[in-house]
Amino acid sequence: MKISKAVFPVGGLGKRFFPITRAIPKEMLGIIDKPLIHYAFEEAVDAGIEEFIFVTRHGKYSIEDYFDFMSAHAKYFNIKMGSVCYVRQNEPLGLGHAVLCAKNLIGSEPFAVISADDYILGESCVGEMITHYDGSNMVAAMNVARSEVSKYGILDVERETDRLVIAKSVDEKPSVGTAKSTYGIVGRYILSHKIFDVLSDLAPGVGGEIQLTDALLKMIPICGLTGFKFAGKRFDCGSKEGLLSAILHVASGDDKLNCVVENFYKDRK
Ligand code: UTP
Repeated sequence: MKISKAVFPVGGLGKRFFPITRAIPKEMLGIIDKPLIHYAFEEAVDAGIEEFIFVTRHGKYSIEDYFDFMSAHAKYFNIKMGSVCYVRQNEPLGLGHAVLCAKNLIGSEPFAVISADDYILGESCVGEMITHYDGSNMVAAMNVARSEVSKYGILDVERETDRLVIAKSVDEKPSVGTAKSTYGIVGRYILSHKIFDVLSDLAPGVGGEIQLTDALLKMIPICGLTGFKFAGKRFDCGSKEGLLSAILHVASGDDKLNCVVENFYKDRK
């Protein structure tokens, strides 16, 4: 099925990176020389997305400046920009609320959602998901450490195949004791437009936020929920540890930078 639109929610506060995120959006933090949002955008382009919708907020203007620059230099970046537009999230009321803000730009077709703070290296995760999309709400899923389940939406598994996890339920940030599996949702989604009706009626959930996971749960009887086991390597760049790991990983694989990483460890011995 053709999916042509992607929503990039970039309205979060990025509290785990205070104070830098008081002035610089989390999505503009860099892995060496490119901001996280650049990699997310490239992933969407590689997946065949043609319309890019950023849900932005006060203080996030540098993202717009960055994509103005990319549009002007699309040839240099060797990237097909498609149509880029912005919609405001007036208050950071949660990921579900950010997605709802894009409602008027989506229409009645399924669409992708991409969180730039989940950096996924390798084959385009969204591209793989589109290839396997079957009409149910689809989320990227990976096995996480049991001690970490309270950081994720966790799937309750009905059955699974090689690449797919069919969920009978989903729980946002459960405790270690109550988690039904270790399949955690990471920030890639292919959603039915019907999710907007559910989101507009949704009460705040965990952390007082409008949770996308709660809408996915409500929609299981309508269209199901499928976790997709993606092939790429994912870094949680919403955390300091994850961003640092991503930078080290990229630097280690770079011909000019790998010696810096090696020398750093040598000097410490
Ligand atoms: P997070 O859950 O990581 O929240 O958002 P956050 O505010 O960005 O970061 P912390 O937890 O305070 O450190 C996941 C994605 O959803 C977006 C974020 O920008 C990020 O891309 N988001 C979150 C919104 O667009 N709006 C919101 O109200 C909340």
